[in-house]
Amino acid sequence: MKRPEIKGSEGRLGILLPGMGAVATTFIAGVEAVRQGLARPIGSLTQMNMIRLGKRTDDRNPRIKDFVPLAGLDQLVFGGWDPIPDDAFKSALNAGVLERSHLDPIADFLGAIQPMPAVFDPKYVKKLDGPNKKMASNKRELAEALRADIRRFREERGCDRLVMIWCGSTEIFLRPGPTHETLEAFEKAMEENDPSIAPSMLYAYAALMEGVPYANGAPNLSADFPALEALAVERGVPIGGKDFKTGQTLIKTILAPGLKARMLGLHGWFSTNILGNRDGEVLDDPESFKTKEESKLGALEHILQSDLYPELYGEMYHKVRINYYPPRGDNKEGWDNLDIFGWMGYPMQIKVDFLCRDSILAAPIVLDLALFMDLAMRSGMSGIQEWLSFYFKSPQTGEGLYPEHDLFIQHRKLKNTLRWMMGEDLITHLGIEYYDREVL
Ligand SMILES: NC(=O)c1ccc[n+]([C@@H]2O[C@H](COP(=O)([O-])OP(=O)(O)OC[C@H]3O[C@@H](n4cnc5c(N)ncnc54)[C@H](O)[C@@H]3O)[C@@H](O)[C@H]2O)c1
Repeated sequence: MKRPEIKGSEGRLGILLPGMGAVATTFIAGVEAVRQGLARPIGSLTQMNMIRLGKRTDDRNPRIKDFVPLAGLDQLVFGGWDPIPDDAFKSALNAGVLERSHLDPIADFLGAIQPMPAVFDPKYVKKLDGPNKKMASNKRELAEALRADIRRFREERGCDRLVMIWCGSTEIFLRPGPTHETLEAFEKAMEENDPSIAPSMLYAYAALMEGVPYANGAPNLSADFPALEALAVERGVPIGGKDFKTGQTLIKTILAPGLKARMLGLHGWFSTNILGNRDGEVLDDPESFKTKEESKLGALEHILQSDLYPELYGEMYHKVRINYYPPRGDNKEGWDNLDIFGWMGYPMQIKVDFLCRDSILAAPIVLDLALFMDLAMRSGMSGIQEWLSFYFKSPQTGEGLYPEHDLFIQHRKLKNTLRWMMGEDLITHLGIEYYDREVL
């Protein structure tokens, strides 16, 4: 495939966030704190990770942000939508992720970010509601209103480019059906207020129609169906999803590839969580939980390949539980019990107790996705961006391809894509060239 020509990264990049809750405000606050020299962007590959180029002996290890032309943090401006009318400062206080000592110095900056009226329908997110909503006679009009917001934001904030990252609540479980098959069917369904069209799909549609890359940080169906996948390609716009890979699933996709690499078996993997933030409350609704459960269950199956290794993983019992427990706020606790077995079938156990801060893990993902989606757009890479699977619990893939869940393969894929984009040799880690020169 031909290497892309990458347009320059200068100018303002607007980051539009449907859903201005814990993740979105932690992300915005972190970027501003970094810009003011008050914090470091820990967890962000674009800001901190180096990339090796050439041979190990070449000693070329630039930072990713110095290797590929990414927008700088000082070029970013933020906007978003939320049915709850709180500005980003109030919303961050309510989320309870960041402490006052971090929020107070940037209070004016956050206070100036007001959510635009949202396209919101409590049928799709049962546990919350708010007054900051758009009204229209059908879903197509709502999507057009979002398009007008996007254009207005671009104009008023002087943005050269935009990206949109869904940070809204998890919507109820929906399967792709006939209304998601073609653009024509999708647009007709919007006009007819068909229940199969959820609000997040209207944001995705509006973004694509306005030439704005779209990534979905939640597990619900949003841009991962044929009508919008085709629209993305037709409009030359990147899309990606879904469900930010944080917390328990991050740990799962670190541990499972290791066990599989050593050919150790698994009888069972039980995962349970307690969390008390607004996300936890939404997930307390069985229909939203089902969406999350599907996303969390998929990763292990794909990593372990039980069809290829039935004697190791064929009988594995996998269970995931999420329990809403308000006292914990955003500081979730996730327990994992792994019943593994080794040589001659002897059983062993691994217990993991992860005292994690979900939004602290999610915020750098939002930043990297925004910068990489913008890079993809400037490189003419449209449609599904599989190389960004690293960031997602349920990576979106082209038809007929199974998703890659192994964090380490995802990481290599991401870096090799950057090398390929910049015309550098791909790194295979073969390494034989360092030793046996006569054979080569
Ligand atoms: N925190 C994590 O680590 C993490 C990891 C993976 C996925 N996610 C997903 O990211 C999303 C955000 O998580 P959070 O912790 O910030 O949740 P949150 O509840 O704090 O924030 C979500 C916000 O979205 C708003 N919202 C809901 N529907 C909307 C709509 N149609 N338009 C605009 N706004 C809407 C809500 O009012 C709320 O303010 C959730 O779907 C969550 O499942 C989070």
